[in-house]
Amino acid sequence: GLRKKEVNVMCLGLDNSGKTTIINQLKPTPAQEIVPTIGFNIEKFKSSSLSFTVFDMSGQGRYRNLWEHYYKESHAIIFVIDSSDKLRMVVAKEELDNLLNHEDICCKKIPVLFFANKMDLRDAMSSVKVTQMLCLENIKDKPWHICPSNAIKGEGLQEGLDWLQGNLF
Ligand code: GTP
Ligand code: MG
Repeated sequence: GLRKKEVNVMCLGLDNSGKTTIINQLKPTPAQEIVPTIGFNIEKFKSSSLSFTVFDMSGQGRYRNLWEHYYKESHAIIFVIDSSDKLRMVVAKEELDNLLNHEDICCKKIPVLFFANKMDLRDAMSSVKVTQMLCLENIKDKPWHICPSNAIKGEGLQEGLDWLQGNLF
């Protein structure tokens, strides 16, 4: 039969932003309990036409230096933001800027999907506000998109993934 096209997706963002919770929701049988990621985990999924390998990276400071080793092979980025974490929004922006300026990323026109996650929390910023805080309008050389999400309920995730699939290759 036809081989599905292989796509490597990196899931990045600060610790506690909800990366693993998002990826868990995409699994056929989601795990009951999510723990902070140590290093990274690799998850595989298939859609009708694509075969995804997702690198679920730890967002903890001590592991962020692992991210760059996988930039070269990545075809898309999912960047997750805890929309309620106002104090660390500048840290998230710093890590995003490091990513976008990295030599293995800056030259590639790969799609970047942002999840403004934890929209259910009372003090969550809107996705418009998150867009402003992270200066996403400055991204001119890559397709990007931001979706508000509630990873616990799975809300907003499919919309984001549909956008990503439509912007690959
Ligand atoms: P690291 O692996 O440490 O980088 O963190 P992570 O980004 O993978 O975060 P993780 O998925 O482990 O979620 C961290 C915490 O946030 C967990 O307690 C989740 O249940 C919670 N969480 C994730 N998404 C949401 C959300 O949309 N709303 C709320 N209220 N909590 C969420
Ligand atoms: Mg995790």
